[in-house]
Amino acid sequence: MIIRPVPFAAVAFVCTNKRPDGHPKPCCADRGGLALRDELKKLVSERGLDSRVKVYQSGCLGGCEFGPMAMTYPDGRMQFGVSAADLPAMLDSLAAEAEDGSP
Ligand code: FES
Repeated sequence: MIIRPVPFAAVAFVCTNKRPDGHPKPCCADRGGLALRDELKKLVSERGLDSRVKVYQSGCLGGCEFGPMAMTYPDGRMQFGVSAADLPAMLDSLAAEAEDGSP
């Protein structure tokens, strides 16, 4: 195993989990998770934060009934019912964390 420091000062995980059609539990993919991931990645690039803020898609983050959801670090926020309108503020927080933190 090789261990290295995380190369980003802030990260966001956006749930894009997809459940089979007809599954009794909702999933973030059906609630816009993929579009949110794409939009947040676009905003990161537009602000020139690619080297400081990383957006990952993730599997289920455990809040399916309240999705789509995201989890951000280092601010440590679980965010439920995220909409595109929420992304600029989310990125503001991540950018501020990236400004303060290392690497
Ligand atoms: S499917 Fe996204 S939180 Fe569970």
